[in-house]
Amino acid sequence: MTIRNTQGLTVWFTGLSGAGKTTLSQALEKLLMARGYRVEPLDGDVVRQHLSKGLGYSKADRDENIRRIGFVAELLTRHGVVALVSAISPYREIRDEVRRKIGAFLEIYVNAPLEVCEQRDQKGLYQRARAGEIKGFTGIDDPYQPPLAPEVECRTDLETVEESVAKVWREVEAKLAGG
Ligand code: ADX
Repeated sequence: MTIRNTQGLTVWFTGLSGAGKTTLSQALEKLLMARGYRVEPLDGDVVRQHLSKGLGYSKADRDENIRRIGFVAELLTRHGVVALVSAISPYREIRDEVRRKIGAFLEIYVNAPLEVCEQRDQKGLYQRARAGEIKGFTGIDDPYQPPLAPEVECRTDLETVEESVAKVWREVEAKLAGG
């Protein structure tokens, strides 16, 4: 397969735990790879086992996590890779900071109401947070600041995965084409 020589891009999925960031990122990864793009997923859960090991969930630690992810995403983007970031990234200011640093950046707001995320509760963490076993859980007793002007908003409680991915793909394609 020919490797396309394109500009890189960071596609940043932000949203509550269980909103569908990883699902959309993985679907987009498949699409991009099938078209010969070089792609690198940076998933919060995975990053926290390696690059951000030891960091917790205070504002300072979350900001540090996002800075580290942003740093790697910038390097990848600079070298022609499409970096797919999925991290709650609850604080607007730090998201805007990495956006400014990276430049070629699309912010995807993966939006499902808290009730829906809580109902899905894939990892059982909402239940533990409600029971008081986890303190400072995003959406329960820790803030989530939604983006004010995301390039794409996916309502994952109302759209199918295919519909959401199609919306993201349109923007990605335009951006990679130089838009
Ligand atoms: S971020 O806030 O720093 O962007 P990140 O996306 O890396 O978060 O990690 C979130 C994941 O950590 C969640 O999906 C969940 O599995 C786990 N987690 C553990 N404790 C918390 C917490 N207090 N708040 C949110 N997520 C938590």
